[in-house]
Order: sequence, then C-alpha cells, then structure tokens
Amino acid sequence: MTGPRPNDDLVVPRSVAVIMDGNGRWAKRAGFERIRGHEKGIDAVRTTVTECARLGVEALVLYAFSEENWQRPQREISLLFQLLKRFLVAERDTLMQNRVRLLHAGRRARLQPDVLALLDETIALTAGNRGMALSLAISYGGRQELVDAMQRIAAEVEAGRLSPAAVTETTIRAHLYQPGLPDPDLLIRTAGEQRISNFLLWQVSYAEIHVSDVCWPDFGAEQLHAAFRDYGRRVRKFGKVP
Ligand code: IPE
Ligand code: IPE
Ligand code: MG
Repeated sequence: MTGPRPNDDLVVPRSVAVIMDGNGRWAKRAGFERIRGHEKGIDAVRTTVTECARLGVEALVLYAFSEENWQRPQREISLLFQLLKRFLVAERDTLMQNRVRLLHAGRRARLQPDVLALLDETIALTAGNRGMALSLAISYGGRQELVDAMQRIAAEVEAGRLSPAAVTETTIRAHLYQPGLPDPDLLIRTAGEQRISNFLLWQVSYAEIHVSDVCWPDFGAEQLHAAFRDYGRRVRKFGKVP
C-alpha cells in the first residue's frame, strides 16, 4: 500500500464518477500526438482505481468513451480501443489484487467482437470480487441510457406485464445499465470543463461536482484527495432545510 493515509478532513464518498477529460490537451502541450495523452491516461486510471479501492469507495464509474465520441476521427477511435483492449488484459492482476469487480455501462451494439470478448472475460474473472465496483462507461450516453430504459419499459407495458401507472422512479432505475450501483455522491471532471457531456443524467441528480484544472493524465492521488476534501466541505441538502 502506498500513498497517504486518510486524514480527518478527507471524507470518502460512497460512490464516485469521473469524466476523464483533457488527454488531447495534455498531449498537445507536451508536443505529442493526441493518442499519447490517452496512453498516459491509462496510468491515471490505474492510480485512481487503486486509490479509490484502498480508501473504501464502494462504486467508481469512469467515463471512458461517450456515444458522441464515435464522431471522432476513425484513427483515434481505433487507437483508443487498442488501448482499452490492452488495459482489459494488463490490469487484471491489479483488479484482482484490489478485489475490484468490473462492470460495463453503455451500448454493446457498436463495440467490436474482440472488445466485447475481452470486456466480458474481465467482467467474468472479477465477478466474485467483493471490494469496489468499477463501472467503465464505454459507448455510453446518458440520454441513450434513458431511451434504452424507456424502450424496455414500453415493451413490458405492451406485453401487459406492467401498467403505465405502475411506472415509478424505481422502475426507471431498475432499467438503467447498472441498476445495482449507488448514485454518485461526487462527480469529478478534469481539464477545467464545467459540463456534464451526457454522463449519468439520471444518476447525478444530487451529486456534488468537483472540477479539477489538471488534465486527466496528470490526475493522481493528490488531486483525488483534494476532490475528497472539497466534497467533505459540502453541505448536502437534498432540497430540505438543514
Ligand atoms: C478525454 O480526453 C478522453 C476521451 C474523451 C476518450 P479528450 O480526448 O477529450 O481530451 P481533450 O478534451 O481533447 O483535451
Ligand atoms: C466526455 O469528454 C467524454 C469522456 C470523458 C469519455 P469529451 O471530451 O468527449 O466531452 P466534450 O466534447 O468536451 O463535451
Ligand atoms: Mg475532451
């Protein structure tokens, strides 16, 4: 185990979601091609996963590839998926050692069979782990997730298994990609951008938002701890009078 121990003022959220942004800018500033930023971003993923698991986070959702990212140049997309495939094999030991259970959030339809195979293998390998759940949002969009949920609910209504009046928040939640995960308490976005970019639209209703100015490849344990300290200073009201 490395890194500082949790301090008194470091409040560990139960559930964390991260929009890992700024790989391209990091690479550009360093004089490299964009893909070098994505490569370096893998090290930041390992650090954040390991540190969140060590600190006792229950669920971590990482935004790795959005539905809209399919509009990027084909070369960047294929290099990103090469990196993802490498990650899914190379990180197996780290996931097992940290008792991390891998999950996927997103549409499977556009993912190549070799990507799906490695994803499913790593999910199956880690399925028995009882530590942190790590959900990778790949080919993920918040609106698409809600569309997919609505279609499945509509099919149940049509089949007569569900009445329209019985559709509640619980029904919608049960049809999300990972219904078992708690809503994020903390949403972190790197590279200074202050937007949601179609991430977890249903789930972030009451998430606290922390924007870090560093680009994702430079996001390490120190920045994660800063986010947790910032979270610890928030007064969460959930619409009530405290
Ligand atoms: C985030 O970094 C990684 C993905 C979206 C896959 P970007 O590639 O968006 O980096 P910037 O925003 O161009 O700097
Ligand atoms: C959001 O980052 C998606 C991921 C981090 C995977 P983008 O870089 O795609 O978002 P925008 O385009 O700046 O909103
Ligand atoms: Mg970006």
